[in-house]
Amino acid sequence: MIYSGPIPQLGLGTFGRTGDAGTEAILKAIEIGYRHLDTAQTYDTEKQVGEAMRRSGLSRGDLFVTTKVADTMLEKANFLPSVERSLAAIGVDQVDLLLIHWPSQNDQVPFAEYMLELAEAKARGLTRLIGVSNFPIADLERSRQLLGEGAIATNQMEIHPFLQTPKLRDYARDMGMPLTAYQPLAKGMVNDDPTISAIAAAHGVGPSAIALAFLMGEGHIVIPASGSEANLRANFAALGVTLTPEEMDRMRALNRGHRRIDPAKSPVWDDQD
Ligand SMILES: NC(=O)c1ccc[n+]([C@@H]2O[C@H](COP(=O)([O-])OP(=O)(O)OC[C@H]3O[C@@H](n4cnc5c(N)ncnc54)[C@H](OP(=O)(O)O)[C@@H]3O)[C@@H](O)[C@H]2O)c1
Repeated sequence: MIYSGPIPQLGLGTFGRTGDAGTEAILKAIEIGYRHLDTAQTYDTEKQVGEAMRRSGLSRGDLFVTTKVADTMLEKANFLPSVERSLAAIGVDQVDLLLIHWPSQNDQVPFAEYMLELAEAKARGLTRLIGVSNFPIADLERSRQLLGEGAIATNQMEIHPFLQTPKLRDYARDMGMPLTAYQPLAKGMVNDDPTISAIAAAHGVGPSAIALAFLMGEGHIVIPASGSEANLRANFAALGVTLTPEEMDRMRALNRGHRRIDPAKSPVWDDQD
């Protein structure tokens, strides 16, 4: 499944890249070639992302930056002021993609209240694209009814070889909406799988590049994170890997519904099997 869209298909997750060491690692990633940076109000990395963007010397249009509105900022009174603070922290007039980080549990904040604010952020030019994260199909359907077909650019979800979320994957394909795979390396677990290692040996790359190439081959956007130059390079190498149909099938067979991120505030997930 070939991805084509406005969001660079391989991005950098910045969770954990706090402080000066975080800025240096993000800058290194940009030097390696990463052009899509994923931050959030709760990561404490918006400042580091902005600093690395400026220090890179690249023009604003060459970098794609995503941030996410925290679940504590969903009420109308908080929403847009929190986005303004994010823009100030990053040091930009507009982000490329603004996501709702988590839906409000049990609609404590009414769904339409924050989704209309998300649309308003775009209408005001605070973001180029809008999207969501951790949204099950039921919430994607509500979004479609409220904002119309095609309004949501992506749904960022936990997806990796051991959690492939086939129901959500097929729904997103039908909608023509790419999913963004967060924690795509299952926090490094992909390095310990014999099938992935065997395919990696055949391609002369590391296992992480195979996991990412597989996810991109499924049409997903991926945002692996690393603080190490060697790992940043190993992950970026995924852009040069195309798996054969037979290798894609072997990777699909690794799905075991292994969900790693499941806090109490989680919605009811679509793919529990
Ligand atoms: N929307 C959400 O709710 C949500 C939730 C979680 C994450 N995210 C986003 O997704 C991004 C990625 O997720 P993540 O950071 O949790 O997990 P991840 O990307 O699956 O894994 C990162 C971990 O794997 C290690 N690693 C990276 N490359 C490696 C390589 N080539 N070989 C061996 N180990 C490697 C890293 O260690 P080193 O630093 O030592 O390389 C780090 O411990 C986050 O940064 C964040 O932007 C979003």
